[in-house]
Amino acid sequence: LKSDFEKSLIVLGSSGHAKVLIEALLVGERKIIGITDPAAEKGTIIMGVPVLGTDMEIEQFASGEVELVNGLGALPYRKARWTLAKRFRDKGYAFAQVIHPSAVIAGDVEFAEGVQIMAGVVIQPGVKIGRDSIINTRSSIDHDCEIGNNCHLAPGVTLSGGVHVGENAHIGTGTVVTHAVSVGSDTIIGAGSVIYRDVPERVKIIQRREEI
Ligand SMILES: CC(C)(COP(=O)(O)OP(=O)(O)OC[C@H]1O[C@@H](n2cnc3c(N)ncnc32)[C@H](O)[C@@H]1OP(=O)(O)O)[C@@H](O)C(=O)NCCC(=O)NCCS
Repeated sequence: LKSDFEKSLIVLGSSGHAKVLIEALLVGERKIIGITDPAAEKGTIIMGVPVLGTDMEIEQFASGEVELVNGLGALPYRKARWTLAKRFRDKGYAFAQVIHPSAVIAGDVEFAEGVQIMAGVVIQPGVKIGRDSIINTRSSIDHDCEIGNNCHLAPGVTLSGGVHVGENAHIGTGTVVTHAVSVGSDTIIGAGSVIYRDVPERVKIIQRREEI
């Protein structure tokens, strides 16, 4: 599935995550109509893009005319990003795929709707990535990995080949997952972990280290 690159975009949110997305879109020469954010003043310009007002402004545009970009970050325990996506999908809007032009992506990789691939990512052949998942800055996904819907691979995550990540998983910054390991759905993996055997669903992994 590919986004319609001709469609104009509206970015929801103006936080750090949104700015990273806007940068990727601008470098990729995508057309951005504006940003919606209740916390930002209407008419403010952020990275050259105007703030349209709150989310209510989106409904001025027909769902067939625009695509949305989910600019809410995905932090462990926070559901706002996913509830926002559902709210607008229920109204018939689609979420664009955002792919930074510097990402190196094999020809057969399959992305679902709303996937966000940040700068410097490498994705090897046979990979599948589910709806709305974020593959953050400089992550590397090796051959034949499968990543579910609503996952977040934070910056600098490395997945070896054949890794399976269940839906809603959060893999913290700089984590390494070795070959063919499965990470269960709704699981949170703390930043800087090394995961070398399967991790069940709905657990939180924090690897203790001696204090320096
Ligand atoms: C795993 C994580 C979610 C835990 O969060 P939490 O449940 O709120 O836990 P706390 O921050 O209360 O920490 C609990 C304990 O684990 C330690 N700890 C937390 N994260 C750790 C990590 N990644 N590695 C080692 N120890 C960690 C804390 O120091 C604390 O130790 P203490 O009990 O001795 O004081 C979080 O620390 C983390 O790593 N998040 C990843 C964030 C990320 O990748 N963000 C990217 C955004 S782009």
